[in-house]
Amino acid sequence: MLWTSLLVLPLVVLSIMATEIKEEENVLVLENGNFDAALKEHNDMLVEFYAPWCGHCKSLAPEYAKAATKLKDENSAIKLAKVDATVESDLASKFGVRGYPTLKFFHDGVPTEYNGPRQAEGIISWLKKKTGFPATKLDSVDAIKTFLADREVAVIGFFKGESSEIEDAKAFVEAVRSFDDIEFGYVTDKAIAEEYKASGNMLVLFKKFDEGRAELKTDLNDKDKIIQFVKETSLPLFIEFNQQSAQRIFSGEMKNHLLIFMSKETDNFNRVNESVRELAKQYKNKLLFVFVNTDVEENSRITEFFGLQKEDYPAVRLINLAEQLVKYKPDVSELNPEKLKVFVDDYLAGKLKPHLNSQEIPADWDKAPVKVLVGKNFDEVAFDKSKDVLVEFYAPWCGHCKKLVPIYDELAEKFAARNDVVIAKMDSTANELEHTRIDSFPTIKLYKKGDNKVVDYNGERTLEGMTKFLESGGEFGQAAPEGDDEDLDNAMDDDDEHENKAPKDEL
Ligand SMILES: *[C@@H]1O[C@H](CO)[C@@H](O)[C@H](O)[C@H]1NC(C)=O
Repeated sequence: MLWTSLLVLPLVVLSIMATEIKEEENVLVLENGNFDAALKEHNDMLVEFYAPWCGHCKSLAPEYAKAATKLKDENSAIKLAKVDATVESDLASKFGVRGYPTLKFFHDGVPTEYNGPRQAEGIISWLKKKTGFPATKLDSVDAIKTFLADREVAVIGFFKGESSEIEDAKAFVEAVRSFDDIEFGYVTDKAIAEEYKASGNMLVLFKKFDEGRAELKTDLNDKDKIIQFVKETSLPLFIEFNQQSAQRIFSGEMKNHLLIFMSKETDNFNRVNESVRELAKQYKNKLLFVFVNTDVEENSRITEFFGLQKEDYPAVRLINLAEQLVKYKPDVSELNPEKLKVFVDDYLAGKLKPHLNSQEIPADWDKAPVKVLVGKNFDEVAFDKSKDVLVEFYAPWCGHCKKLVPIYDELAEKFAARNDVVIAKMDSTANELEHTRIDSFPTIKLYKKGDNKVVDYNGERTLEGMTKFLESGGEFGQAAPEGDDEDLDNAMDDDDEHENKAPKDEL
């Protein structure tokens, strides 16, 4: 009927007009009102949530515009967009924007976090990998040689048939997209495949270490199997821990890791390397063998985490990451392959008890008003049924802990005369407890006399607050304090604003 179409027409026109989106240097300027329309119109869109005052956003802006312009010049369907998150707060909170800039890549309207490069070329190559055909066609032996030449690891899919049929290898393409750090190629020419002792359909992972090559001939239609194959076979038998490898080590399927801490300059390093690689072959799908070079300054964080000092090297720790991180330590410190094997077998058989870090008990641990606890004397002191024991768990680097020091000292002075009260502290970065896991600093707990009940102190960290808590036997001071006394700068550095508790430094 005519009247209905007349009615519909202006609506259509209106909605078309509404999707007319402003661009700045070929970057779409999105806001609450046009965001959904833009998502609908562009299947692949990178969105930057920024704040006008943010420095990283300012340095990204020219590169971002350059990438947007280049893509536009190439008639690419990929769009770059930006949202002023300080104005469009609804959008910012909808997409969980916490810091600036936050970049999200939307494919068919579904967002994923963008943690890719911040240079124009890098942005473009990342986006193309996510959207276009992500593997390189290799149509000669020379092309393959060049492709493999400067890559530690690369994967080539050998397929029967011509490139148009490669589209069928959907699982391959999808698997390829999930790797940012490994390049993939494909070959369809039978003669070329034969040069590489391959025949369609199969995947070959080429590597410049260990066996040099790994093959996958079955399950080629299963994306997850392909991903698992590449993840597993691309790792060296004895992988060196560093910035690049960290994520691949710790986010992989393998949850058991044997870490060897030693200097690469050690005389017998090559021998250790050889024997560990032999061992790694035997435990291929059970354990990952990781080398931590103790000469590398950057590795001090991980060695600190394990409570290791110079005199401890070479050191061995086995960790399990299935749920919480659990550590195991062999009795012997020498790197004897037979003993390592016994240690690993005992671990796999469930015969070992977890290892907990502890410092030695200081000779003067009970001389000052604030008693010093370590892993080795904790239980004896804290679970003394005749005493209320207040313990502050701290980290040497934690700012909130440092602020607490004079107040806590004063508290200890105040209760010094009471022989049924102990005020104590423990450095939780160097001392661990089987029964208690400390995730943020400072954490304050009262171990009550009598029943040894444990009560957390979540009140204000003032002399008055803690005094009241102690004198009431843990009754007062469990409620969260009103508001948060952190200023904005601190709140942005710490994660405190997400917690309705007294401010803490997260581990
Ligand atoms: C161990 O030796 C292999 C073979 O020589 C070498 O490729 C690898 O880099 C060495 N591993 C480490 C952690 O240095």
